[in-house]
Amino acid sequence: RVDDLQRGAADGPIAAVVGWPVAHARSPLIQGYWLRKLGRAGGYGRIAVRPEDAARFFAGLARSGLAGANVTVPHKEAAFAACDEFEPVARATGAVNTLWIEAGKLCGTNTDALGFLANLDDRAHGWDNSGGQALVLGAGGAARAVVWALASRGLKVRIVNRTRARAEELATRLGAVAHDWSEAEALLGQTRVLVNTTSLGMSGKGDLDLDLAALPATALVTDIVYVPLETPLLARARARGNPTVDGLGMLLHQAVPGFRRWFGGCPEVTPALRDLVLADIEG
Ligand code: ATR
Repeated sequence: RVDDLQRGAADGPIAAVVGWPVAHARSPLIQGYWLRKLGRAGGYGRIAVRPEDAARFFAGLARSGLAGANVTVPHKEAAFAACDEFEPVARATGAVNTLWIEAGKLCGTNTDALGFLANLDDRAHGWDNSGGQALVLGAGGAARAVVWALASRGLKVRIVNRTRARAEELATRLGAVAHDWSEAEALLGQTRVLVNTTSLGMSGKGDLDLDLAALPATALVTDIVYVPLETPLLARARARGNPTVDGLGMLLHQAVPGFRRWFGGCPEVTPALRDLVLADIEG
């Protein structure tokens, strides 16, 4: 069952975001905005799928009549397991957040990595010009896409995580280097890009306990958390003069490739879309 269906200019392909829970997902707002703005035919809604039903749901997707789906927590690995074809980023990260159907086959990619890169390209032009080191805080689902993205632009990626074993596993998978959390402050001196992928700094969670004193003033600091838009980490970085990029753009940019596949056209991440999603977050 597709809930909260956002309709485009006419009947056409239907896609949906799939998760558990899924009521909080902002994809319908974003996809619905583009459907109306670009006057495309189609619709986009939400489908709540329990974890125990995920394998069966994805196995049947190619025959369901849907054009495809976005996949959110906790189903990105189940979606990966169900795909017949992958783009390289999905294979490398083992996670799929965007699905479409081609010649009856279920195809998947991971647009979180592309969204992360597009957000930095958009808001910090030339951030990747001179290589160097990136430090990623956290080693969960979101970190996979971020580590892949940074490595794809030629940065040497170091990962620290509360649970060291997860950092090791991710580093091995994606050609990065794992360190103890206690080494993070010492690593900052060589860091050109600092990324928080942990849930610390999110409204209602604890703050990140990291002294930025050793971080070069030119280093870019970004967070994948976007509620609040300016996390305590970003506020501290900005106060000492570092360039900062918030995480909202990653959410918006990761939605672009799916829209193009299902509905066509050229959806853009504009200030008006940002304001619409921000109003929803704040409302
Ligand atoms: P996501 O898919 O959003 O990345 P996740 O896979 O649950 O979610 O990962 C959350 C990340 O935040 C992990 O790196 C987690 O560290 P652990 O691997 O040690 O669990 C990190 N994290 C969450 N709460 C934390 C806390 N209080 N202190 C430090 N790290 C924390």
